[in-house]
Amino acid sequence: MSLLGEEAGPSGRLHPFDLLRWYLDVGVDECIGELAIDRYSVPPPVPRPVAAAVPASPSSSSPRRAVVGREADGAGASGTATQIAAACTSLTELHRALEAFEGLPLKQAATSTVFADGSAQPRLMCIGEAPGHEEDRQGVPFIGASGKLLDRMLKSIGLDRSEVYITNVVPWRPPANRKPTQDEVAVCLPFVIRHIELVDPPLLLLLGGAAASALLARSEGINRLRGQWFEVGSPGLQRPVPTLATFHPAYLLRTPEAKREAWRDLLLLSKKL
Ligand code: URA
Repeated sequence: MSLLGEEAGPSGRLHPFDLLRWYLDVGVDECIGELAIDRYSVPPPVPRPVAAAVPASPSSSSPRRAVVGREADGAGASGTATQIAAACTSLTELHRALEAFEGLPLKQAATSTVFADGSAQPRLMCIGEAPGHEEDRQGVPFIGASGKLLDRMLKSIGLDRSEVYITNVVPWRPPANRKPTQDEVAVCLPFVIRHIELVDPPLLLLLGGAAASALLARSEGINRLRGQWFEVGSPGLQRPVPTLATFHPAYLLRTPEAKREAWRDLLLLSKKL
């Protein structure tokens, strides 16, 4: 018998030996959690994209692979995000499909659908979180203060913005620049995956935790995900794309001491380029 949270014994604090005796008395031979969890009050988990992340052993030099799927979905009048995205055969069609998509209320509050900027045959594809005020106003991603820093980061490894393709996980600005919720990201994910398939970039750079956890299908924060190579694969890609996550430029503007680690990430990228 195993001890799950809701079976976790009498209330109140017990001496560990008393607790152990009580567990043995009730026939428990395996302890799974220390704290009682009221599973009836825990909200059901948000549907997450299907992912098969293959962990590499710490000594292995092979990257971890995430195969991103399209299970979490938003339904609009003309179908689910997955169906709509899968039907797009070009970037122009994908752009139009996002402009017409009605499955996410965020869009109503936004001025623009901020699709992408840069070269359609890029040396690198960068994916951020969601547009800010200036991006929403001009309809171009990474054009405000964090965009200026992104341009300088790319320059520091010899990349001009015109050689790079830049987009976001969520193409509509969340009100008051709040973080997009996991549900909002999940609704947009089929479009982002199709976006990657259509650009088919040689390398991916994920800017910040929202892009990293969505596209690597991992629950860890950006501190853990940055600085190591992953591979992002999907059924529509001929081969998995080597992918690196790093801090979001907006975070670096607020936390200049993190620039040292971001610089290390850029060096990793530079080597691969
Ligand atoms: N932050 C982002 O994540 N994307 C933008 O386009 C601008 C700011």
